[in-house]
Amino acid sequence: MTQSKTATLTTPEGQSYEFPVLSGTLGPDVIDIRKLYDSTDHFTFDPGYTSTGSCESKITYIDGDKGVLLHRGYPIEDLAEKSDFMEVSYLMLHGELPNASQKAEFTKSITYHTMVHEQLSMFFRGFRRDAHPMAIMCGVVGALAAFYHDSTDITDARQREIASYRLIAKMPTIAAMAYKYSVGQPFVYPRNDLPYADNFLNMMFSVPCEEYKINPVLADAMDKIFILHADHEQNASTSTVRLAGSSGANPFACIAAGIASLWGPAHGGANEAVLKQLNEIGHKDNIPEIIKKAKDKSSGFRLMGFGHRVYKNFDPRAQVMRRTCHEVLEALNIEDPLLDLAMELERIALEDDYFVSKKLYPNVDFYSGIILKAMGFPTSMFTVLFAVARTVGWISQWNEMIEDPAHKIGRPRQLYTGPVQRDYTPISSR
Ligand code: ACO
Repeated sequence: MTQSKTATLTTPEGQSYEFPVLSGTLGPDVIDIRKLYDSTDHFTFDPGYTSTGSCESKITYIDGDKGVLLHRGYPIEDLAEKSDFMEVSYLMLHGELPNASQKAEFTKSITYHTMVHEQLSMFFRGFRRDAHPMAIMCGVVGALAAFYHDSTDITDARQREIASYRLIAKMPTIAAMAYKYSVGQPFVYPRNDLPYADNFLNMMFSVPCEEYKINPVLADAMDKIFILHADHEQNASTSTVRLAGSSGANPFACIAAGIASLWGPAHGGANEAVLKQLNEIGHKDNIPEIIKKAKDKSSGFRLMGFGHRVYKNFDPRAQVMRRTCHEVLEALNIEDPLLDLAMELERIALEDDYFVSKKLYPNVDFYSGIILKAMGFPTSMFTVLFAVARTVGWISQWNEMIEDPAHKIGRPRQLYTGPVQRDYTPISSR
Protein backbone atom coordinates (compact mmCIF):
# COMPACT_ATOMS: atom_id res chain seq x y z
CA MET A 1 0.00 0.00 0.00
CA THR A 2 1.08 3.60 -0.53
CA GLN A 3 0.25 6.88 1.15
CA SER A 4 0.29 10.12 -0.79
CA LYS A 5 -2.68 12.05 0.60
CA THR A 6 -4.31 12.88 3.91
CA ALA A 7 -7.93 13.49 4.95
CA THR A 8 -8.94 16.10 7.47
CA LEU A 9 -11.60 15.48 10.07
CA THR A 10 -13.08 18.30 12.09
CA THR A 11 -14.77 17.26 15.35
CA PRO A 12 -17.90 19.01 16.71
CA GLU A 13 -15.52 20.76 19.14
CA GLY A 14 -13.91 22.42 16.14
CA GLN A 15 -10.56 20.62 16.27
CA SER A 16 -9.07 19.32 13.03
CA TYR A 17 -7.10 16.12 12.66
CA GLU A 18 -5.21 14.71 9.67
CA PHE A 19 -5.47 11.03 8.75
CA PRO A 20 -3.41 9.18 6.14
CA VAL A 21 -5.22 8.12 2.95
CA LEU A 22 -3.91 4.77 1.74
CA SER A 23 -4.05 3.43 -1.82
CA GLY A 24 -4.08 -0.20 -2.83
CA THR A 25 -3.50 -1.56 -6.34
CA LEU A 26 -7.23 -1.47 -7.23
CA GLY A 27 -10.39 -0.13 -5.61
CA PRO A 28 -11.21 2.95 -3.57
CA ASP A 29 -8.64 4.59 -1.33
CA VAL A 30 -9.12 4.11 2.40
CA ILE A 31 -8.84 6.61 5.21
CA ASP A 32 -6.59 5.11 7.89
CA ILE A 33 -8.44 5.83 11.11
CA ARG A 34 -6.46 3.47 13.35
CA LYS A 35 -5.39 6.45 15.49
CA LEU A 36 -8.85 8.09 15.45
CA TYR A 37 -9.87 7.15 18.99
CA ASP A 38 -6.46 7.90 20.50
CA SER A 39 -6.34 11.31 18.82
CA THR A 40 -9.96 12.48 18.86
CA ASP A 41 -11.79 10.42 21.50
CA HIS A 42 -14.39 9.41 18.88
CA PHE A 43 -15.28 6.05 17.36
CA THR A 44 -16.77 5.53 13.90
CA PHE A 45 -20.25 4.04 13.52
CA ASP A 46 -20.69 1.53 10.70
CA PRO A 47 -23.10 -1.33 11.47
CA GLY A 48 -22.82 -4.01 8.78
CA TYR A 49 -19.34 -2.61 7.98
CA THR A 50 -20.50 -1.24 4.63
CA SER A 51 -17.76 1.41 4.61
CA THR A 52 -15.10 -0.29 6.69
CA GLY A 53 -11.96 -1.99 5.39
CA SER A 54 -11.09 -4.53 8.10
CA CYS A 55 -7.76 -5.70 6.70
CA GLU A 56 -5.19 -5.40 3.92
CA SER A 57 -5.50 -8.33 1.51
CA LYS A 58 -3.85 -9.51 -1.70
CA ILE A 59 -6.17 -12.43 -2.41
CA THR A 60 -9.47 -11.34 -4.00
CA TYR A 61 -10.73 -8.16 -5.63
CA ILE A 62 -14.34 -7.36 -6.52
CA ASP A 63 -15.59 -4.40 -8.55
CA GLY A 64 -19.31 -4.64 -7.93
CA ASP A 65 -20.26 -1.87 -10.39
CA LYS A 66 -18.41 -3.47 -13.27
CA GLY A 67 -19.18 -7.09 -12.29
CA VAL A 68 -15.51 -8.02 -11.89
CA LEU A 69 -14.12 -10.74 -9.61
CA LEU A 70 -10.36 -11.39 -9.55
CA HIS A 71 -8.43 -13.96 -7.55
CA ARG A 72 -4.76 -12.93 -7.21
CA GLY A 73 -5.44 -10.79 -10.31
CA TYR A 74 -6.97 -13.49 -12.50
CA PRO A 75 -10.62 -13.01 -13.66
CA ILE A 76 -12.98 -15.68 -12.32
CA GLU A 77 -14.25 -16.41 -15.87
CA ASP A 78 -10.69 -17.35 -16.96
CA LEU A 79 -10.10 -19.51 -13.91
CA ALA A 80 -13.44 -21.30 -14.36
CA GLU A 81 -12.80 -21.96 -18.06
CA LYS A 82 -9.04 -22.62 -18.15
CA SER A 83 -8.01 -23.81 -14.71
CA ASP A 84 -9.14 -26.40 -12.16
CA PHE A 85 -9.91 -26.31 -8.47
CA MET A 86 -6.54 -27.70 -7.34
CA GLU A 87 -4.71 -25.03 -9.33
CA VAL A 88 -7.02 -22.30 -8.01
CA SER A 89 -6.49 -23.58 -4.45
CA TYR A 90 -2.71 -23.37 -4.90
CA LEU A 91 -3.11 -19.88 -6.35
CA MET A 92 -5.22 -18.73 -3.39
CA LEU A 93 -2.85 -20.14 -0.80
CA HIS A 94 0.50 -19.34 -2.42
CA GLY A 95 -0.22 -16.24 -4.51
CA GLU A 96 0.92 -17.55 -7.91
CA LEU A 97 -0.24 -20.21 -10.35
CA PRO A 98 1.81 -23.39 -9.84
CA ASN A 99 4.17 -24.80 -12.47
CA ALA A 100 3.62 -28.44 -13.47
CA SER A 101 5.74 -29.99 -10.71
CA GLN A 102 4.37 -27.65 -8.01
CA LYS A 103 0.85 -28.55 -9.09
CA ALA A 104 1.56 -32.28 -9.06
CA GLU A 105 3.13 -32.06 -5.60
CA PHE A 106 0.27 -29.93 -4.21
CA THR A 107 -2.41 -32.20 -5.68
CA LYS A 108 -0.64 -35.23 -4.21
CA SER A 109 -0.45 -33.60 -0.77
CA ILE A 110 -4.16 -32.78 -0.83
CA THR A 111 -5.04 -36.28 -2.10
CA TYR A 112 -3.02 -37.96 0.66
CA HIS A 113 -4.79 -35.95 3.36
CA THR A 114 -8.36 -36.81 2.32
CA MET A 115 -8.89 -39.63 4.81
CA VAL A 116 -10.16 -38.69 8.26
CA HIS A 117 -9.12 -40.30 11.53
CA GLU A 118 -11.24 -43.46 11.90
CA GLN A 119 -12.34 -42.34 15.37
CA LEU A 120 -13.93 -39.26 13.78
CA SER A 121 -16.55 -41.45 12.13
CA MET A 122 -17.93 -42.19 15.64
CA PHE A 123 -18.92 -38.53 15.92
CA PHE A 124 -21.56 -38.94 13.24
CA ARG A 125 -23.40 -41.56 15.29
CA GLY A 126 -24.02 -38.95 17.96
CA PHE A 127 -26.23 -37.00 15.55
CA ARG A 128 -29.86 -37.77 14.72
CA ARG A 129 -30.20 -39.13 11.20
CA ASP A 130 -32.38 -36.16 10.28
CA ALA A 131 -29.83 -33.59 11.52
CA HIS A 132 -29.16 -30.78 9.04
CA PRO A 133 -25.79 -31.56 7.41
CA MET A 134 -24.59 -28.03 8.23
CA ALA A 135 -25.14 -28.80 11.94
CA ILE A 136 -22.98 -31.90 11.48
CA MET A 137 -20.33 -29.89 9.58
CA CYS A 138 -20.07 -27.29 12.39
CA GLY A 139 -19.51 -30.03 14.96
CA VAL A 140 -17.24 -32.39 13.05
CA VAL A 141 -14.99 -29.73 11.50
CA GLY A 142 -14.53 -28.09 14.92
CA ALA A 143 -13.65 -31.55 16.30
CA LEU A 144 -10.72 -31.86 13.85
CA ALA A 145 -8.69 -29.80 16.34
CA ALA A 146 -8.99 -32.71 18.76
CA PHE A 147 -7.40 -35.09 16.25
CA TYR A 148 -4.60 -33.17 14.59
CA HIS A 149 -2.63 -31.64 17.45
CA ASP A 150 0.49 -31.61 15.29
CA SER A 151 -0.97 -28.83 13.12
CA THR A 152 -2.50 -26.43 15.64
CA ASP A 153 0.59 -24.37 16.53
CA ILE A 154 -0.27 -21.28 14.52
CA THR A 155 3.17 -19.73 15.04
CA ASP A 156 4.76 -22.53 12.97
CA ALA A 157 4.43 -21.88 9.20
CA ARG A 158 4.78 -25.58 8.33
CA GLN A 159 2.01 -26.53 10.78
CA ARG A 160 -0.21 -23.82 9.29
CA GLU A 161 0.43 -25.27 5.84
CA ILE A 162 -0.41 -28.81 6.96
CA ALA A 163 -3.60 -27.63 8.69
CA SER A 164 -4.61 -25.77 5.50
CA TYR A 165 -4.00 -28.84 3.34
CA ARG A 166 -5.86 -31.03 5.82
CA LEU A 167 -8.90 -28.76 5.77
CA ILE A 168 -9.07 -28.52 1.97
CA ALA A 169 -8.59 -32.29 1.70
CA LYS A 170 -10.93 -33.46 4.45
CA MET A 171 -13.90 -31.13 3.87
CA PRO A 172 -15.29 -33.19 0.93
CA THR A 173 -14.84 -36.39 2.94
CA ILE A 174 -16.70 -34.98 5.95
CA ALA A 175 -19.41 -33.44 3.72
CA ALA A 176 -20.01 -36.76 1.95
CA MET A 177 -20.06 -38.59 5.30
CA ALA A 178 -22.71 -36.14 6.58
CA TYR A 179 -24.84 -36.96 3.52
CA LYS A 180 -24.30 -40.73 3.73
CA TYR A 181 -25.23 -40.67 7.40
CA SER A 182 -28.48 -38.81 6.64
CA VAL A 183 -29.58 -41.41 4.06
CA GLY A 184 -28.43 -44.40 6.10
CA GLN A 185 -25.80 -45.58 3.62
CA PRO A 186 -22.26 -46.69 4.53
CA PHE A 187 -19.49 -44.10 4.44
CA VAL A 188 -17.40 -44.29 1.26
CA TYR A 189 -13.65 -43.86 1.75
CA PRO A 190 -11.76 -41.41 -0.46
CA ARG A 191 -9.93 -42.83 -3.48
CA ASN A 192 -6.44 -41.57 -4.22
CA ASP A 193 -6.70 -42.44 -7.92
CA LEU A 194 -9.45 -39.85 -8.45
CA PRO A 195 -9.18 -36.09 -8.94
CA TYR A 196 -10.68 -33.85 -6.21
CA ALA A 197 -14.17 -33.29 -7.70
CA ASP A 198 -14.49 -36.88 -9.00
CA ASN A 199 -13.48 -38.21 -5.60
CA PHE A 200 -16.16 -36.10 -3.95
CA LEU A 201 -18.88 -37.32 -6.33
CA ASN A 202 -17.75 -40.90 -5.72
CA MET A 203 -17.89 -40.49 -1.93
CA MET A 204 -21.34 -38.90 -2.26
CA PHE A 205 -23.05 -41.18 -4.72
CA SER A 206 -21.34 -44.57 -4.89
CA VAL A 207 -22.55 -47.56 -2.86
CA PRO A 208 -20.60 -50.79 -2.18
CA CYS A 209 -23.06 -53.00 -4.06
CA GLU A 210 -22.51 -51.65 -7.57
CA GLU A 211 -19.99 -49.79 -9.69
CA TYR A 212 -20.45 -46.03 -9.85
CA LYS A 213 -19.39 -44.44 -13.12
CA ILE A 214 -18.39 -40.80 -12.76
CA ASN A 215 -19.91 -38.70 -15.52
CA PRO A 216 -17.06 -36.42 -16.73
CA VAL A 217 -19.49 -33.56 -17.48
CA LEU A 218 -20.72 -33.67 -13.88
CA ALA A 219 -17.18 -33.91 -12.49
CA ASP A 220 -16.22 -30.89 -14.59
CA ALA A 221 -19.33 -28.99 -13.40
CA MET A 222 -18.52 -29.87 -9.77
CA ASP A 223 -14.98 -28.59 -10.21
CA LYS A 224 -16.31 -25.33 -11.73
CA ILE A 225 -18.82 -24.91 -8.90
CA PHE A 226 -15.93 -25.28 -6.43
CA ILE A 227 -13.90 -22.65 -8.33
CA LEU A 228 -16.84 -20.21 -8.51
CA HIS A 229 -17.36 -20.39 -4.73
CA ALA A 230 -13.70 -20.49 -3.67
CA ASP A 231 -13.47 -16.97 -2.24
CA HIS A 232 -15.32 -13.67 -2.20
CA GLU A 233 -13.16 -11.29 -0.16
CA GLN A 234 -14.35 -10.03 3.24
CA ASN A 235 -17.91 -11.43 3.31
CA ALA A 236 -19.66 -12.49 6.54
CA SER A 237 -18.18 -15.99 6.85
CA THR A 238 -14.65 -14.93 5.84
CA SER A 239 -14.75 -12.02 8.28
CA THR A 240 -15.97 -14.50 10.91
CA VAL A 241 -12.97 -16.76 10.21
CA ARG A 242 -10.61 -13.80 10.48
CA LEU A 243 -12.23 -12.50 13.67
CA ALA A 244 -12.19 -15.94 15.30
CA GLY A 245 -8.55 -16.40 14.24
CA SER A 246 -7.51 -12.95 15.42
CA SER A 247 -7.50 -14.22 19.00
CA GLY A 248 -5.02 -16.96 18.07
CA ALA A 249 -7.65 -19.74 17.86
CA ASN A 250 -6.60 -22.84 15.92
CA PRO A 251 -7.53 -23.06 12.21
CA PHE A 252 -10.00 -25.94 12.61
CA ALA A 253 -12.00 -23.94 15.17
CA CYS A 254 -11.88 -20.87 12.90
CA ILE A 255 -13.21 -22.77 9.87
CA ALA A 256 -16.00 -24.24 12.04
CA ALA A 257 -16.93 -20.63 12.90
CA GLY A 258 -16.97 -19.75 9.18
CA ILE A 259 -19.30 -22.68 8.49
CA ALA A 260 -21.69 -21.43 11.19
CA SER A 261 -21.81 -17.98 9.58
CA LEU A 262 -22.27 -19.40 6.08
CA TRP A 263 -25.27 -21.41 7.24
CA GLY A 264 -27.51 -18.29 7.39
CA PRO A 265 -30.12 -17.81 4.61
CA ALA A 266 -28.80 -14.34 3.74
CA HIS A 267 -25.39 -15.85 2.94
CA GLY A 268 -25.05 -19.50 1.90
CA GLY A 269 -28.68 -20.51 1.99
CA ALA A 270 -30.03 -18.47 -0.95
CA ASN A 271 -29.74 -21.14 -3.69
CA GLU A 272 -32.11 -23.35 -1.73
CA ALA A 273 -34.54 -20.41 -1.55
CA VAL A 274 -34.30 -19.83 -5.33
CA LEU A 275 -35.29 -23.40 -6.06
CA LYS A 276 -38.19 -23.21 -3.62
CA GLN A 277 -39.40 -19.97 -5.20
CA LEU A 278 -39.16 -21.31 -8.77
CA ASN A 279 -41.24 -24.28 -7.70
CA GLU A 280 -43.80 -21.95 -6.16
CA ILE A 281 -44.00 -19.83 -9.33
CA GLY A 282 -44.61 -23.08 -11.18
CA HIS A 283 -45.40 -21.67 -14.65
CA LYS A 284 -44.23 -18.86 -16.95
CA ASP A 285 -47.74 -17.41 -16.92
CA ASN A 286 -47.30 -16.59 -13.22
CA ILE A 287 -44.12 -14.52 -13.75
CA PRO A 288 -45.79 -11.10 -14.25
CA GLU A 289 -47.68 -11.53 -10.99
CA ILE A 290 -44.51 -12.52 -9.11
CA ILE A 291 -42.59 -9.54 -10.56
CA LYS A 292 -45.43 -7.26 -9.44
CA LYS A 293 -45.22 -8.73 -5.94
CA ALA A 294 -41.41 -8.27 -5.82
CA LYS A 295 -41.88 -4.59 -6.71
CA ASP A 296 -44.50 -4.04 -4.04
CA LYS A 297 -42.65 -2.93 -0.90
CA SER A 298 -45.60 -3.73 1.36
CA SER A 299 -45.51 -7.41 0.32
CA GLY A 300 -42.08 -7.93 1.93
CA PHE A 301 -41.45 -10.33 -0.95
CA ARG A 302 -38.10 -10.55 -2.77
CA LEU A 303 -37.14 -12.28 -5.94
CA MET A 304 -34.60 -14.84 -4.75
CA GLY A 305 -31.34 -15.03 -6.70
CA PHE A 306 -31.54 -11.34 -7.66
CA GLY A 307 -29.51 -8.53 -6.16
CA HIS A 308 -26.24 -8.54 -4.25
CA ARG A 309 -24.69 -6.37 -1.57
CA VAL A 310 -21.59 -5.77 -3.69
CA TYR A 311 -22.53 -6.51 -7.33
CA LYS A 312 -24.59 -3.77 -8.93
CA ASN A 313 -24.10 -5.45 -12.29
CA PHE A 314 -24.07 -9.09 -13.47
CA ASP A 315 -22.46 -11.37 -10.92
CA PRO A 316 -19.68 -12.77 -13.18
CA ARG A 317 -20.09 -16.15 -11.48
CA ALA A 318 -23.76 -16.28 -12.52
CA GLN A 319 -22.80 -16.16 -16.21
CA VAL A 320 -20.51 -19.21 -15.88
CA MET A 321 -23.10 -20.94 -13.74
CA ARG A 322 -25.79 -20.45 -16.40
CA ARG A 323 -23.58 -22.03 -19.11
CA THR A 324 -22.65 -24.92 -16.80
CA CYS A 325 -26.31 -25.44 -15.98
CA HIS A 326 -27.15 -25.96 -19.67
CA GLU A 327 -24.20 -28.36 -20.09
CA VAL A 328 -25.23 -30.47 -17.09
CA LEU A 329 -28.90 -30.72 -18.08
CA GLU A 330 -27.91 -31.64 -21.62
CA ALA A 331 -25.42 -34.30 -20.45
CA LEU A 332 -28.04 -35.82 -18.19
CA ASN A 333 -30.72 -35.48 -20.85
CA ILE A 334 -32.92 -33.65 -18.39
CA GLU A 335 -35.51 -31.18 -19.56
CA ASP A 336 -36.12 -29.25 -16.40
CA PRO A 337 -39.04 -26.84 -16.75
CA LEU A 338 -37.48 -24.90 -13.86
CA LEU A 339 -34.58 -23.91 -16.14
CA ASP A 340 -36.96 -22.53 -18.79
CA LEU A 341 -38.82 -20.75 -16.04
CA ALA A 342 -35.59 -19.33 -14.61
CA MET A 343 -34.48 -18.05 -18.02
CA GLU A 344 -37.83 -16.41 -18.67
CA LEU A 345 -37.83 -14.85 -15.21
CA GLU A 346 -34.33 -13.53 -15.81
CA ARG A 347 -35.33 -12.10 -19.21
CA ILE A 348 -38.41 -10.33 -17.87
CA ALA A 349 -36.71 -9.00 -14.73
CA LEU A 350 -33.76 -7.64 -16.75
CA GLU A 351 -36.18 -5.63 -18.89
CA ASP A 352 -38.17 -4.31 -15.96
CA ASP A 353 -37.61 -0.71 -14.85
CA TYR A 354 -37.64 -1.58 -11.15
CA PHE A 355 -34.89 -4.19 -11.47
CA VAL A 356 -32.91 -2.09 -13.96
CA SER A 357 -33.03 1.10 -11.87
CA LYS A 358 -32.06 -0.73 -8.65
CA LYS A 359 -29.32 -2.64 -10.50
CA LEU A 360 -30.74 -5.99 -9.44
CA TYR A 361 -29.06 -8.67 -11.56
CA PRO A 362 -29.06 -12.47 -11.18
CA ASN A 363 -26.49 -13.61 -8.61
CA VAL A 364 -24.49 -16.86 -8.43
CA ASP A 365 -27.30 -18.60 -6.58
CA PHE A 366 -29.86 -18.07 -9.32
CA TYR A 367 -28.70 -21.08 -11.36
CA SER A 368 -26.71 -23.14 -8.87
CA GLY A 369 -29.78 -24.75 -7.25
CA ILE A 370 -30.99 -26.06 -10.62
CA ILE A 371 -27.59 -27.61 -11.42
CA LEU A 372 -27.11 -29.15 -8.00
CA LYS A 373 -30.60 -30.63 -8.04
CA ALA A 374 -29.95 -32.14 -11.48
CA MET A 375 -26.68 -33.63 -10.20
CA GLY A 376 -28.60 -35.44 -7.46
CA PHE A 377 -27.79 -33.29 -4.42
CA PRO A 378 -30.62 -32.80 -1.93
CA THR A 379 -31.29 -29.13 -1.10
CA SER A 380 -29.99 -29.60 2.46
CA MET A 381 -26.51 -30.24 0.95
CA PHE A 382 -26.36 -27.02 -1.14
CA THR A 383 -24.80 -24.89 1.61
CA VAL A 384 -22.47 -27.76 2.54
CA LEU A 385 -21.07 -27.72 -1.02
CA PHE A 386 -20.55 -23.99 -0.67
CA ALA A 387 -18.61 -24.63 2.56
CA VAL A 388 -16.44 -27.27 0.88
CA ALA A 389 -15.50 -24.82 -1.88
CA ARG A 390 -15.09 -21.79 0.39
CA THR A 391 -12.69 -23.57 2.77
CA VAL A 392 -9.73 -22.68 0.55
CA GLY A 393 -10.74 -19.00 0.60
CA TRP A 394 -11.25 -19.01 4.37
CA ILE A 395 -7.94 -20.71 5.09
CA SER A 396 -6.00 -18.51 2.65
CA GLN A 397 -7.45 -15.41 4.30
CA TRP A 398 -6.68 -16.85 7.75
CA ASN A 399 -3.05 -17.52 6.75
CA GLU A 400 -2.73 -14.03 5.31
CA MET A 401 -3.97 -12.55 8.57
CA ILE A 402 -1.62 -14.61 10.76
CA GLU A 403 1.35 -13.64 8.54
CA ASP A 404 0.43 -9.92 8.63
CA PRO A 405 2.64 -8.25 11.27
CA ALA A 406 -0.03 -5.52 11.68
CA HIS A 407 -2.78 -7.94 12.69
CA LYS A 408 -4.41 -7.50 16.08
CA ILE A 409 -7.22 -9.18 17.93
CA GLY A 410 -10.48 -7.95 16.35
CA ARG A 411 -12.37 -5.77 18.78
CA PRO A 412 -15.04 -3.45 17.33
CA ARG A 413 -16.50 -0.70 19.51
CA GLN A 414 -20.12 0.40 19.89
CA LEU A 415 -22.50 3.30 20.25
CA TYR A 416 -24.03 2.62 23.65
CA THR A 417 -27.69 3.70 24.01
CA GLY A 418 -28.65 1.73 27.16
CA PRO A 419 -29.36 3.12 30.61
CA VAL A 420 -26.77 5.29 32.29
CA GLN A 421 -25.40 4.15 35.64
CA ARG A 422 -28.17 3.68 38.24
CA ASP A 423 -28.62 2.30 41.74
CA TYR A 424 -29.52 -1.35 42.28
CA THR A 425 -33.08 -1.78 43.60
CA PRO A 426 -33.62 -4.68 46.03
CA ILE A 427 -36.26 -7.18 44.76
CA SER A 428 -38.61 -6.29 47.66
CA SER A 429 -38.86 -2.72 46.32
CA ARG A 430 -39.43 -3.56 42.62
N1 ACO B 1 -36.25 -8.50 -5.10
C1 ACO B 1 -36.91 -7.31 -5.04
N2 ACO B 1 -36.36 -6.17 -4.59
C2 ACO B 1 -35.09 -6.22 -4.16
C3 ACO B 1 -34.34 -7.41 -4.20
C4 ACO B 1 -34.96 -8.57 -4.69
N3 ACO B 1 -34.28 -9.74 -4.75
N4 ACO B 1 -33.09 -7.18 -3.72
C5 ACO B 1 -33.06 -5.88 -3.39
N5 ACO B 1 -34.27 -5.29 -3.67
C6 ACO B 1 -34.60 -3.85 -3.50
C7 ACO B 1 -34.80 -3.51 -2.03
O1 ACO B 1 -36.17 -3.61 -1.69
C8 ACO B 1 -34.28 -2.11 -1.98
O2 ACO B 1 -35.27 -1.24 -2.48
P1 ACO B 1 -35.37 0.29 -1.90
O3 ACO B 1 -34.07 0.94 -2.27
O4 ACO B 1 -36.55 0.84 -2.62
O5 ACO B 1 -35.58 0.15 -0.43
C9 ACO B 1 -33.13 -2.07 -2.97
O6 ACO B 1 -33.43 -3.13 -3.92
C10 ACO B 1 -31.77 -2.34 -2.32
O7 ACO B 1 -31.86 -3.53 -1.54
P2 ACO B 1 -31.04 -3.76 -0.20
O8 ACO B 1 -31.69 -4.86 0.58
O9 ACO B 1 -30.82 -2.47 0.50
O10 ACO B 1 -29.68 -4.25 -0.79
P3 ACO B 1 -28.60 -5.09 -0.05
O11 ACO B 1 -27.36 -4.84 -0.77
O12 ACO B 1 -28.60 -4.84 1.41
O13 ACO B 1 -29.15 -6.59 -0.24
C11 ACO B 1 -29.40 -8.82 -0.91
C12 ACO B 1 -28.56 -7.55 -1.03
C13 ACO B 1 -29.60 -9.21 0.57
C14 ACO B 1 -28.64 -9.97 -1.60
C15 ACO B 1 -30.77 -8.59 -1.59
O14 ACO B 1 -30.60 -8.20 -2.92
C16 ACO B 1 -31.69 -9.82 -1.52
O15 ACO B 1 -32.38 -10.01 -0.52
N6 ACO B 1 -31.69 -10.67 -2.60
C17 ACO B 1 -32.46 -11.90 -2.58
C18 ACO B 1 -31.71 -12.99 -1.80
C19 ACO B 1 -30.50 -13.53 -2.53
O16 ACO B 1 -30.57 -13.86 -3.71
N7 ACO B 1 -29.38 -13.67 -1.80
C20 ACO B 1 -28.15 -14.23 -2.37
C21 ACO B 1 -27.03 -13.25 -2.33
S1 ACO B 1 -25.62 -13.93 -3.17
C22 ACO B 1 -24.76 -14.79 -2.01
O17 ACO B 1 -24.89 -14.61 -0.82
C23 ACO B 1 -23.82 -15.84 -2.48
